[in-house]
Amino acid sequence: MNVGIIGGGTMGSGIAQVAATSGCKVKLYDTNQAALDKAKAALEKILNRLIEKERIDNAEKLRIQSNISYVDNLKDLADSNLTIEAIIENLDIKKKVFSELESYVANDCIIASNTSSLSMASIAASLKNPKRCVGIHFFNPAPLMKLVEVIPAIQTSYETLEKAIDTIASWKKTVAVAKDTPGFIVNRVARPFYGEALRIYEEGLADFGTIDTAMKEVGGFRMGPFELMDFIGNDVNYTVTETVFKEFYYDPRYKPSFTQKRFAEAGYLGRKSGIGYYEYDENGKRVIQSDSEESHNKELSTQIFERILVMLINEAADALFLNIASAEDIDNAMTKGVNYPKGLLAWADEKGIDWCVSKLDELYSEYHEDRYRCSPLLRKMNRENKTFF
Ligand code: NAI
Repeated sequence: MNVGIIGGGTMGSGIAQVAATSGCKVKLYDTNQAALDKAKAALEKILNRLIEKERIDNAEKLRIQSNISYVDNLKDLADSNLTIEAIIENLDIKKKVFSELESYVANDCIIASNTSSLSMASIAASLKNPKRCVGIHFFNPAPLMKLVEVIPAIQTSYETLEKAIDTIASWKKTVAVAKDTPGFIVNRVARPFYGEALRIYEEGLADFGTIDTAMKEVGGFRMGPFELMDFIGNDVNYTVTETVFKEFYYDPRYKPSFTQKRFAEAGYLGRKSGIGYYEYDENGKRVIQSDSEESHNKELSTQIFERILVMLINEAADALFLNIASAEDIDNAMTKGVNYPKGLLAWADEKGIDWCVSKLDELYSEYHEDRYRCSPLLRKMNRENKTFF
C-alpha cells in the first residue's frame, strides 16, 4: 500500500514510522526541508535505539528506512492509496492542502486527517468527494501509543470507514471509532483528570503534590494530573480545554481553570520551560522537592482520588449515553490512548453504579453547580440495577 503523509513534524514522522514498519511504501511530505531532515535524523536515532535494545536488527532498520521517502512536492503523493495529513491545526490551511491534494490523487484514495480538535465535517467539506475523507487520530508518540481513534464525518462513506479501520488494525493498532464531536473520545473523557484536579487545588483542599500522589498511589495512574499537565505543556493543555469548552457551547463541565491560564500566561509551561507546577533541570528532569505532610494523609488522598475518578466515570458514561462510541471503545481509548490503569466504565462496575450516583449527587448537593450533574445513563442503570459489562 502506498501511504502519503502530509506534515513531517512530531505526529507525521511518527505515523510514517508506523506505516513503514508495517510494510507500506511511505512518502513523507513537508513544505519545510528542515522538518524533513529532522524527521529522517530522528528516525535513524529511534531505530538505532531499538537495535541497542535488541528489538530489531540492522536488516529491519534498513527495511523500515527504505520504505520511507522524503518529498517536498505535494504532487509526489499522486500514487497514494491513503494519505494522512498532520500539518498545523488550522482549518483554512488544511482545507487548502486537501483540495489541492484531491486534484493529484486517484478517485479511490482515502484522504484522512490527524486533527485533534477540528470537526471532520468541516475538513471533508473542502473536497469534491467528501465521502473519501475520514479522521485518523494517532496519539503522541505514534509508534508507542496503541490507540488510534477513527472518526467518520457525516459525509464519510461506509467503504471509506471500513478501509480506514482495516488498514489501521493491520498496523497493529487498537481502533476506537468515535463520533465527530469535540475531543472525540480521549480528549473529551480525560478533561476532568485535569479540570477536577485544578478545582480541588483552587478550593485549597490540597497542593499539587498531594493531588498527584493521591492519583498515583491510590488510583494507580502512572502520572498525576499536574505532572502530566507539565509534561504536555500548560499552553497546549489549556488550549485543548478552552477549545473543548467553547465547542460544547460553554457546558460548565468543561470550564477551564484560571490557575492553568495564569501558568500558561506566565510562561510556566512545564517541562519544556523548566518550570510549571514543578521545577525541572536543563535535561527536563524534575527537581524533587520534599513531599508535603498532606500527601501522606491517606484519608485526604482517598477523597481526592474518588472525586476525580467519579468525574471521569461520569464523563465516560455520558459519552456512551450520547453514542460517541461503544463501551468497549471508550474503555480501550483511555487505557490504550492515555495509559489509564483501568477502563473507566469497568471501574464504574467495580465501584458500583450506586456508589457513582451517590458520589456525584453528594458533590452536586454541596456545590449546586451543573458541572456535577450525574449522567442520565448512570441514574437509569442504577434504577435498573445494570452494569456496563
Ligand atoms: P508539528 O508542528 O510538530 O508538525 C507540523 C508540520 O507540518 C511541520 O513540520 C510543518 O513544517 C508542516 N506544515 C505546516 N504547514 C504545512 C503545509 N501547508 N504543507 C505541508 N506541511 C506543512 O505538529 P504536530 O504536533 O505533529 O501536529 C500535527 C497535527 O496533528 C495537528 O493537526 C495536531 O492537532 C495533530 N495532533 C497532534 C498531537 C500532538 O500531541 N502533538 C496528537 C494528535 C494529533
